[in-house]
Amino acid sequence: MRSTMKRFKVLTFGCQMNEHDSEKMSGVLTAEGMVKAGSPEDADLIIINTCSIREKAEQKFYSEVGKLRQLKADNPSLVIAVSGCIAQQEGAKILRRAPFVDLIFGNQNIKDLPGLIGSAGIDTKKAATDFADGYEHALLPAEREGAVSSFVNIMYGCDNFCSYCVVPYVRGREKSRKPEDIITEIEKLVESGCREVTLLGQNVNSYGRRLDTGCGFPELLKRLDKLAGLERIRFVTSHPRDLSDELIEAMAGLPKVCECLHLPVQSASDRMLEAMNRGYTFNDYMRKVEKLRNLMPDIALTTDIIVGFPGETDEDYEATVKALEDIRYEGIFSFKYSKRPNTKAVVMPGHLPEDVKAARLDRVIDLQNAITEENNKAMEESVVEVLVEGGDKTGGQGRLSGKSRGGKTVNFEGDLSLVGTLVKVKVTEGKKHSLSGKLVV
Ligand code: SAH
Ligand code: SF4
Ligand code: F3S
Repeated sequence: MRSTMKRFKVLTFGCQMNEHDSEKMSGVLTAEGMVKAGSPEDADLIIINTCSIREKAEQKFYSEVGKLRQLKADNPSLVIAVSGCIAQQEGAKILRRAPFVDLIFGNQNIKDLPGLIGSAGIDTKKAATDFADGYEHALLPAEREGAVSSFVNIMYGCDNFCSYCVVPYVRGREKSRKPEDIITEIEKLVESGCREVTLLGQNVNSYGRRLDTGCGFPELLKRLDKLAGLERIRFVTSHPRDLSDELIEAMAGLPKVCECLHLPVQSASDRMLEAMNRGYTFNDYMRKVEKLRNLMPDIALTTDIIVGFPGETDEDYEATVKALEDIRYEGIFSFKYSKRPNTKAVVMPGHLPEDVKAARLDRVIDLQNAITEENNKAMEESVVEVLVEGGDKTGGQGRLSGKSRGGKTVNFEGDLSLVGTLVKVKVTEGKKHSLSGKLVV
């Protein structure tokens, strides 16, 4: 470690997996005696933790890193590092477009950070992007952003190879952590004030598939539900193909598991689902939605949609629009199909022009915004359970913010001493992206 390097700043893009990796980087650097800088201008080391899921994310990275060029010119001893999924994908190629970058490290190299920083410099540019054998970065210390609600990795990587997706290439093969390790980590979190965990994996439903412990995902939930002091359990992401009846029943039966599920459908056309290599039909998906709603009538369902996949006809697209109207999700993430390196879809016939994709996306977004707002309005007058996470940053003094069991942000008036507790809130206003309410005493 360079003795002059004291302050670091991690800039994070991408999914919760990346957010949590950034917490690990902060943990590793803090253990080395460094402290967080308030802004990139104050930092001796800047790490950009990147996402490669769509072309737009990649463009955003190059524009962000471009902004640091001047900082580096003003302060040549500043070390600029690039991590995450673009680092994993591109390696040293990043230097062609951003030659002032000092260090590139991949998703399984966070543990090597102290040594890498020690050797980073103008003359020793390197890319450390090897996939490690038996990788366990959960063992690294994490500096978590929220004390009340925490992310916990239960598995790494993905073996699904959906034909559009870069994740299996940038995150490596699927690997589950041992249940005991997960439980120990969560017990420690609870001791330090955590009340809610979000279990992370690209496909949590296949948790344990390759472990010889006999503990699959439903069993893991059962064990975690017993932990004293822990109030709520959430998880992302569920692959619809692997969502079993046993898991649905476990969710419905376990009091701490929130009635909230992100279940990416991607498309409602069977032709598209097959080309995407998703492994289910839309009918299979709907049967699971029905079962979920039968056992948990108030379950909050969210999804991901890709429009404009190669070969998507108007008819395929209309099927997806109809599915959104029928299912009425609480919220969706919708995307235009984007070509990613190495993926099978790149060479499929029928790539659509940008304007067709854009028009399809706009309509989906408008439709869902209206549904989300209607759903939020329909919650007015109801009483929801809220885990208080902190002060409402946008609402001013005396306002608190937390989440309902369904995952909606709820803002209301109350004392900061309530942070970390479960309270009942009567919803007074359903807004576009959140609920406002009054504490029920
Ligand atoms: N493991 C999760 C998340 C994957 S990435 C899952 O399987 O659901 C999050 C979302 O990004 C995906 O669900 C998909 O909707 C979208 N996505 C992934 N690759 C994409 C691409 N090439 N173009 C457009 N959207 C994409
Ligand atoms: Fe990508 Fe499919 Fe794996 Fe999700 S399940 S990360 S969409 S390959
Ligand atoms: Fe996540 Fe983006 Fe990587 S979505 S896994 S940070 S490509």
